[in-house]
Amino acid sequence: MRLDRYIANSGFAARSAVKKLIRGGKVSVNGAPVKRADAKIDENADEVRVGGELIRYDKFIYLMLNKPQGYVSATEDKRYKPVTELIPPEYAHYNAFPVGRLDIDTEGLLILSNDGDFAHRVITPKKNIYKRYYAELDKAAETADIQAFEAGMEFKDFTAKPARLEITADPTRVYIEIAEGKYHQVKRMCERVGKTVLFLKRIKIGGLALDENLPSGAARPLTDDEIKSIFE
Ligand code: URA
Repeated sequence: MRLDRYIANSGFAARSAVKKLIRGGKVSVNGAPVKRADAKIDENADEVRVGGELIRYDKFIYLMLNKPQGYVSATEDKRYKPVTELIPPEYAHYNAFPVGRLDIDTEGLLILSNDGDFAHRVITPKKNIYKRYYAELDKAAETADIQAFEAGMEFKDFTAKPARLEITADPTRVYIEIAEGKYHQVKRMCERVGKTVLFLKRIKIGGLALDENLPSGAARPLTDDEIKSIFE
């Protein structure tokens, strides 16, 4: 990889500023100063420093996005805005994609990453990673609905595993936990018990909760502990 690209991609500074630093003799590779921005380096072996500071280059990125309504969970779309438009510019070069899907009118926790193995582990129903949603319904949820969710549900295209329904003091407001993420799953499970979802927000994936201080539309990297918490 080109030296200027490597440093810019690490998030140290924009490419133009990086070029200046290199020309100014501030950058060393394996201890020797290098003044050419297009010098080739091995990102897995070479030690790059700017003014003595070691540059760390991460191959993978894991972002938490507080998804607003009006965005589709895709990297591109002909009609609608894709969630990847909300990735801060300093992380754009990672080419992260949404890990699982939220409907265009669903809000809340969406992870974006470029790590395919990680994405698979989060999404696969085999791992039983529960996704927790807050939902507002057109009618009051009833105790019988809890049992219907617990029993799992047969749909023509898949069988929903046992799911959890918690009814709050206002019974039109509920929490729902599902272990898969099939197309419109929460909405379809609610329809099955005769209720329409009017508002839906994902608030948790495994042990990872949506950061309440993250404004709608904002994204930030997950900490190592947060990444682990998904699988706990
Ligand atoms: N279930 C739904 O119906 N919609 C979502 O966006 C997520 C889960």
